[in-house]
Amino acid sequence: MQARETAPGKSVPHESAALHVAGEASYVDDIPELAGTCYLALGLSEQAHAKIKSIDLAAVEAAPGVVAVVTAADIPGVNDCGPIIADDPILADGLVQYVGQPVFAVVAESQTAARKAVKLAKIDYQPLPAILDVAAGRQQQSWVLPPMQLRRGDADSALTRAPHKLKGGFSVGGQEQFYLEGQISYVALREDGCLHLWCSTQHPTEMQHVVAHSLGLDFNQVVVEMRRMGGGFGGKESQSAIFACIASIAAYRLRRPIKLRLDRDDDMLITGKRHGFEFDYEVGYDADGLICGAKIEMAAQAGFSADLTGPVVTRAVCHFDNAYYLGDVTIDAFSVKTNTQSNTAFRGFGGPQGALAIEYIIDSIARELGKDPQQVRKLNFYDKDFRNTTPYGQVVEDNVIHELVAELEQSCDYQTRRAAVATFNRDSPILRKGLALTPVKFGISFNVVHFNQAGALVHVYTDGSVLVNHGGTEMGQGLHTKVSQVVALELGLNIAQVRATANDTSKVANTSATAASTGSDLNGKAAQDAARQIRDRLARFAGERFGGEPAQVLFEDGVVHCAGKAIPFAELVQQAYENRVQLWSDGFYKTPGLNWDKDKMQGSPFYYFAYGAAVSEVVIDTLTGEFKLLQADILHDAGNSINPAIDIGQIEGAYIQGMGWLTSEELCWDPEGRLTTHAPSTYKIPTVSDCPTAFNTRLYQNRNVKDTILRSKAVGEPPLLLPFSVFFAIRDAVASLADNRINPRLRAPATPEAILDAIEALRAEVA
Ligand code: MTE
Ligand code: MOS
Repeated sequence: MQARETAPGKSVPHESAALHVAGEASYVDDIPELAGTCYLALGLSEQAHAKIKSIDLAAVEAAPGVVAVVTAADIPGVNDCGPIIADDPILADGLVQYVGQPVFAVVAESQTAARKAVKLAKIDYQPLPAILDVAAGRQQQSWVLPPMQLRRGDADSALTRAPHKLKGGFSVGGQEQFYLEGQISYVALREDGCLHLWCSTQHPTEMQHVVAHSLGLDFNQVVVEMRRMGGGFGGKESQSAIFACIASIAAYRLRRPIKLRLDRDDDMLITGKRHGFEFDYEVGYDADGLICGAKIEMAAQAGFSADLTGPVVTRAVCHFDNAYYLGDVTIDAFSVKTNTQSNTAFRGFGGPQGALAIEYIIDSIARELGKDPQQVRKLNFYDKDFRNTTPYGQVVEDNVIHELVAELEQSCDYQTRRAAVATFNRDSPILRKGLALTPVKFGISFNVVHFNQAGALVHVYTDGSVLVNHGGTEMGQGLHTKVSQVVALELGLNIAQVRATANDTSKVANTSATAASTGSDLNGKAAQDAARQIRDRLARFAGERFGGEPAQVLFEDGVVHCAGKAIPFAELVQQAYENRVQLWSDGFYKTPGLNWDKDKMQGSPFYYFAYGAAVSEVVIDTLTGEFKLLQADILHDAGNSINPAIDIGQIEGAYIQGMGWLTSEELCWDPEGRLTTHAPSTYKIPTVSDCPTAFNTRLYQNRNVKDTILRSKAVGEPPLLLPFSVFFAIRDAVASLADNRINPRLRAPATPEAILDAIEALRAEVA
């Protein structure tokens, strides 16, 4: 079995590829509606922070097509859907905390009727002082969670001793998940007070829990089903909860099927996004650029409630090192409460924000010393046998960043292109080119140890076809494909014989969110465990029947080889059934060797690290502030990839998505706290025309040193850090205007405005 386990993965198509392109893949809104289905629209707060003095819903109730209105008073159970801390009201009860917070719901015979009626409410507010940005929140010590600190060694004395010092600040904005399928829940009542919920969610088990709590039901009365999402990106990990609850509360009250499907504007106004961060740093370094000590304060915009801010900020702290050894370091992290949407998971979960800060610092050190940032980066990389412990105390055992970066530098001709960029810039006063290489090291596992578990169910039917059900959700990332591949490999079948089914809380129970990139690591192993048990039983049965050692029975290409005989899998299965052999099995997996002390912020929270690097080349127009990505070269470590085609899709998708975060996607709130960028008309995500014509993505050959599923590595989130190189290439281009001697004050996202601001500030400094 060993050889098969490490064979290179196969690029089989995504299990739904044909359905996706034909428009036949079924999403929640495609499920045929039950008779009597009603539709919801939500009434949203128009104030950032206010007491509700009175709500007059008479005109809403009287509007055509309206069946009922639902307010906080109609919630039979707990009015909370917070994932960790109970500070997320389902419907506002007397107090609103951001513009866009759901206050009431209208139930109507049609979607249009509900949307029209919702506008007729009269809410009388008594405004309260609102905190609308991180700076104001920090000043007032407005937190959703107590501040965190991670320290190692003595950063203060290291800074005192350091030959050079640099102090500064930097900010990075948030990011809207912009899943193509918006948030949606559809609820049907079943007999005896039970509920069936179809919900576009990354976390069916949590939806089961919050719905049960809000209705005062037992978990065994609520079934949540999720076949696929049209994207989640972290935005449907906890934030599908409020919609699942409101729909369920309405269904329970009216005894009718209820659908709650948001339009894009409401979705963007109500739900949280990636956390924007502000950083203040102080770093000491020597003449070569080697860091001797660093102090950083990071302040994350949490929004009005905690949601997943705790884990997000923890991950930011644990990724401040990125690929670099930091001996004496102090990291202070603040979770700032503001009267805005409650920010949440988004691909990378705070990791990208934390790592971006150290990249900004290193990029700045290089320019202070007149060096290519690339040299300073390499100098500070983790070593293999010493300088290899992270600030949180985990030894980096699988470091490949030196080899990986060397290979990429070579394959993309970094040095030659560096020189070509300099030559171009000498003769080009208006258009300027920039180039940057940035590395990635990303920890895999949930910091909370007990989330790192998964279950699966594998059914082998008597015709030899196989059905697999597991605890993960499919959001386009190819999880079902990979899990099916694992099961097919284990049973020696063709992928066409294995079908993955919808995630369903009544099949595999107590699942973790499909998040932190752990989907295939956890569920792949659980499904392998289940399939292996069936294979073992079949091997024993074959051994008994045909003679021969069960261990020698070989399952390959749909045929079972036993004692010189070749029996088609389906035939063996039929015989096994007739001999009362159990043909289905459950499976379970828990990641070994993890520990994390969240108070001390110490431990080994990650099973392993995924690595990568990217080189990006840009040209900027110094008159308009626009930029164009000319070329991207990526080398990424997906371990022994289960499915190289899917992994390359994940890498390129994450790269472009991260580029959007750092260049064009800008969230703006007006002085009253209203999100003004709540539709694609004002919020710009990258399109195909923003992709570089030369887009060279390769997988780094690197079998996982840890015993992961087929020795692969998680690939969902780590590549989101690759487009740091785009941001720093833009900074490089701006710096060329001052002979690369001055550090441009470039904020992220580097929109045309931000680029022009940085150019102006730079010119003022030179003058
Ligand atoms: N890819 C697609 N197509 N759609 C998504 O919503 N979510 C990302 C990533 N890739 C996402 C995606 C996020 S945030 C995570 S955590 C992982 O997929 C989750 O899936 P995995 O653990 O199976 O990799
Ligand atoms: Mo991904 S942000 O962990 O859902």
